[in-house]
Amino acid sequence: MIGFLTFLELLIVLRRPDIVDKDNRVRIVSVEEMLGSYDFVIIGGGSAGAVLANRLSENSNWTILLLEAGNDEGVISDVPSLASYLQHTEVDWGFKIENSSTYCKGMVNNQCNWPRGKALGGSSVINYLIYVRGNRKDYDQWEELGNSGWGYDDVLPHFKKAENVSIPDLRASPYHGTTGYLTVERARYKHPIASYFLNASFEMGYSEVDVNGETQTGFMYPQATVRNGRRCSSAKAYLRSTAGRENLHVRTGALVTKILVNETTKTAYGVEFVRENMKYTVRAKKEVILSAGTIQSPQLLMLSGIGPKEHLEEVGIRVILDSPGVGKNLQDHVGIGGLTYLIDPPHDSSTSTLSEVEQFLAERNGSLYDISFGEVIGFTNSSLIVSLSIAVDRVFSLVIGFNGNSELTKNAFGLKDDLYETLYSNIINKDAYSIIPFILHPKSRGYIKLRDNNIVHHPLIVPNYFDNPQDLEILAEAADFIYNFSLTSTMQELNASVSSNLIPDCAHLEFSSRDYWRCYARFYTLTIYHATSTCKMGSENDEMAVVNQRLKVHGINGLRAVDASIMPNIVSGNTNAPVIMIAEKAADLIKEDWNGL
Ligand SMILES: Cc1cc2nc3c(=O)[nH]c(=O)nc-3n(C[C@H](O)[C@H](O)[C@H](O)COP(=O)(O)OP(=O)(O)OC[C@H]3O[C@@H](n4cnc5c(N)ncnc54)[C@H](O)[C@@H]3O)c2cc1C
Ligand SMILES: *[C@@H]1O[C@H](CO)[C@@H](O)[C@H](O)[C@H]1NC(C)=O
Ligand SMILES: *[C@@H]1O[C@H](CO)[C@@H](O)[C@H](O)[C@H]1NC(C)=O
Ligand SMILES: *[C@@H]1O[C@H](CO)[C@@H](O)[C@H](O)[C@H]1NC(C)=O
Ligand SMILES: *[C@@H]1O[C@H](CO)[C@@H](O)[C@H](O)[C@H]1NC(C)=O
Ligand SMILES: *[C@@H]1O[C@H](CO)[C@@H](O)[C@H](O)[C@H]1NC(C)=O
Ligand SMILES: *[C@@H]1O[C@H](CO)[C@@H](O)[C@H](O)[C@H]1NC(C)=O
Ligand SMILES: *[C@@H]1O[C@H](CO)[C@@H](O)[C@H](O)[C@H]1NC(C)=O
Ligand SMILES: *[C@@H]1O[C@H](CO)[C@@H](O)[C@H](O)[C@H]1NC(C)=O
Ligand SMILES: *[C@@H]1O[C@H](CO)[C@@H](O)[C@H](O)[C@H]1NC(C)=O
Repeated sequence: MIGFLTFLELLIVLRRPDIVDKDNRVRIVSVEEMLGSYDFVIIGGGSAGAVLANRLSENSNWTILLLEAGNDEGVISDVPSLASYLQHTEVDWGFKIENSSTYCKGMVNNQCNWPRGKALGGSSVINYLIYVRGNRKDYDQWEELGNSGWGYDDVLPHFKKAENVSIPDLRASPYHGTTGYLTVERARYKHPIASYFLNASFEMGYSEVDVNGETQTGFMYPQATVRNGRRCSSAKAYLRSTAGRENLHVRTGALVTKILVNETTKTAYGVEFVRENMKYTVRAKKEVILSAGTIQSPQLLMLSGIGPKEHLEEVGIRVILDSPGVGKNLQDHVGIGGLTYLIDPPHDSSTSTLSEVEQFLAERNGSLYDISFGEVIGFTNSSLIVSLSIAVDRVFSLVIGFNGNSELTKNAFGLKDDLYETLYSNIINKDAYSIIPFILHPKSRGYIKLRDNNIVHHPLIVPNYFDNPQDLEILAEAADFIYNFSLTSTMQELNASVSSNLIPDCAHLEFSSRDYWRCYARFYTLTIYHATSTCKMGSENDEMAVVNQRLKVHGINGLRAVDASIMPNIVSGNTNAPVIMIAEKAADLIKEDWNGL
């Protein structure tokens, strides 16, 4: 595979100048050109950081420095169908969660992988491209928790400001934007079987909807952050377009090691970073903005002396501010993998990789443009809604796609060899689809802690999946729903049949019973990659809140956090679009606060 990717990369460089995009790439400032101080220093050029760099540099009176640990995105990440191959490469931080005896038991050393993007564009460079905003009630709930200005009616304009939707039916929708930097399209290629999935969802009682519109419950072909069929990362959307702005300096390969805080005045005044083993200090005249993501924003705060006092002392860090909420309240959409259904395809499914590549290079269409892991997505009800008293009435979501039974899955998820063999050896690469269900509102809460006081060491990530057993119940019900889905007459036209390979440790339980699925979920646990809420936004009265409603860090001047970590609670959908919205709104707040200064 590595060989194939290298080969494809070479072909793209030779034959797809639109992907190479030489003239519009972000200009990286040399260390010599860097100033000693900037008005704003942004840490992390991911989904949020790229937006901020663009919006703040609109004011030509301000100087902005964006520091990113990774490099500019390459060319392979532009190819939608290859998203999974980016994991464990240089654009992935390659985090793993701490091992557990109650979840991720089917993974090597009982540890699930937690990929995170390391590049300009951050996780939007390696994500699965699906554009979902969540539910109106998510934001109304944020507001009810004491964050005025964050209700749905307040945030909708920021979602729209960010977006340029190219889907003809949606351009006139009051829920969508057409003048933003972030392009939203349908996948350029749709698998011939995708329409079966949608029709089967109708049989299950659902309708085709715009899940980002009036009603979230229902199914649809995904809206995707792609432009001309190719990935539209936040860096492509927001940074390439600012190439000419002299007041914006972007520095890649720069690992921020510390936020500098004046202990007397409790004011952030700059950052320290390392590049090629050299240490640098740069000052911030107005603010330091932390956008290092859900895992690394709390990590950096703690390394800078802002966090739970006992924990900081435990790892030998001088406490500047005791902020007990830093790293707590970790939430994620947990799902289950491996729900594989064999089918007889109604078409000639024999295509060769070479002809697909040639089609991609020459005709700019074909299956490399497929969003194969999410041909159709859906938001469904659960019978457990009432008993769980969830504020939002959608409790699980489905991603229907392919690639379940291939080596790729094994590597991306980190499955143990023997489990992989048991589940897949007799069905490898046979025609099949798989459905991944995930819960939208987990009750379990995890945390991030430091392993020690060295930034190079990955922090401890403990999601505590299924700590609250209700989370397991919803997934068991979802697995049952998915089984029923395969029995619809639409899916039966394809002779859909569940793979009957059992997880050995669960084989004593009746196949397809709730008990079986509860057991199964503890082995084939999946993150849906939506970790949030480790520096949550909330009022001063909530001692676990890390930032206020203007995203300023409580107790520290000149410092904001702006990324997925500030969500008080996780939203009912994928997180990239919400993070971009958060950054759009944050930029407006910052402009308001510094009006004319
Ligand atoms: C595999 C995967 C699939 C996903 N699929 C989807 C999807 O289909 N749809 C969707 O909406 N969401 C998806 N997501 C989630 C979504 O992409 C993230 O929630 C979102 O990108 C997070 O944005 P962020 O700004 O909080 O962090 P990030 O985008 O991760 O940005 C953080 C940035 O900070 C940098 N950084 C960290 N520490 C430092 C430091 N010390 N110094 C300098 N720089 C630093 C990082 O390198 C990174 O560039 C997926 C995520 C992953 C990993
Ligand atoms: C976690 O990993 C460590 C080190 O490999 C091992 O000693 C421990 O038994 C593991 N714990 C669980 C619950 O798997
Ligand atoms: C939005 O996308 C369309 C293509 O769908 C393009 O023609 C237009 O220029 C884009 N608008 C902006 C503001 O980028
Ligand atoms: C799905 O339903 C539509 C509308 O009823 C129909 O035209 C189409 O043929 C169906 N597709 C499949 C694959 O059954
Ligand atoms: C911290 O702020 C005080 C008061 O402005 C100042 O005297 C002191 O020099 C500052 N310390 C540092 C390290 O900048
Ligand atoms: C791809 O593009 C070529 C040339 O424009 C066209 O002839 C062909 O039908 C397209 N194929 C698909 C699958 O869209
Ligand atoms: C989902 O649940 C809500 C609230 O209970 C209900 O109003 C709605 O009809 C349900 N939708 C479906 C498709 O079952
Ligand atoms: C699946 O179908 C069975 C039999 O019709 C039904 O009893 C069960 O409630 C269904 N499960 C779900 C989650 O829809
Ligand atoms: C489904 O199975 C039946 C019986 O074996 C067969 O006749 C039919 O062709 C199969 N359907 C498809 C789509 O292959
Ligand atoms: C930039 O500074 C000038 C001169 O002080 C001022 O007139 C102008 O309004 C400022 N621009 C913005 C966008 O704040």
